Amino acid sequence: MESAEPDLSRYFEVAHVANRCAVLTGAGVSAESGMPTFRGEQGLWKEYRPEELATPEAFQRNPELVWEWYEYRRGMLEGIQPNEGHRALASAEQFFEEFTLITQNIDGLHQAAGSTDVVELHGNIRRDRCHDCGAGRGEEEAMECTCGGLFRPDVVWFGESLPPQAISMAFSAAQSADLLFSVGTSTMVYPAAQLPYLAKDAGAFVVEVNPEPTPFTPLADLAVRGPSGQWLPRLLDPLGSPAGGGNS
Ligand code: OAD
Repeated sequence: MESAEPDLSRYFEVAHVANRCAVLTGAGVSAESGMPTFRGEQGLWKEYRPEELATPEAFQRNPELVWEWYEYRRGMLEGIQPNEGHRALASAEQFFEEFTLITQNIDGLHQAAGSTDVVELHGNIRRDRCHDCGAGRGEEEAMECTCGGLFRPDVVWFGESLPPQAISMAFSAAQSADLLFSVGTSTMVYPAAQLPYLAKDAGAFVVEVNPEPTPFTPLADLAVRGPSGQWLPRLLDPLGSPAGGGNS
């Protein structure tokens, strides 16, 4: 059983000498900013049915309904700010020779916190693209693309493939990492959920940050139970100073 106060000494030993760090984030990293997660008691998928809102079939059947759902989600993002967890990850870029931040989130909060080169596995809700030809949509453009297709949010729906470049960068970062963080994700949705397993198989030290256990927890080298807005600064900020860290 996970103790209330885990021993962080081994983690800091590894983290201080790690060169390649990869991070996978999920909806939980934005929870303290006020964004609801998908699963769990208060989760979006408890109240709404993904197959009616987040699939290509749903869009073909009823594009207005799907747009309504995404306008509602865009509305939720208004006034939402990154939290201490996003900020700690943005600062951590400079502590490693290679740092890859991979997110399943479509909210853009990592970029808002200052992270650069974020690998977005599930797209970004703030962009639109044509459902047929993939062209991006300009600010004032009509809902119908010049090719005749309809514009849609640039997010990945159930049953769709992930952007190939994003998935290949994510897999290669996970496989070459010395240290990987799995933060605020239920590790239920593949292929993203595969990343902590790949890193572990390839010999990385894997840290999970989540208030709840997940299917990956038994394999984690360190599993801290609590909100990422509190834990990420505690785990990452000390790496900015050579003597920092320890179990303090
Ligand atoms: P989930 O909603 O499945 O999981 C969120 C996780 O965050 C849970 O394990 C919570 O325990 C944890 N959590 C809650 N509050 C937290 C906090 N303050 N700090 C850290 N963790 C916290 O979200 P994802 O794993 O991101 O896909 O879901 C994956 C994908 O499923 C999403 O990208 C979305 C969804 O359907 C698509 O839309 C394609």
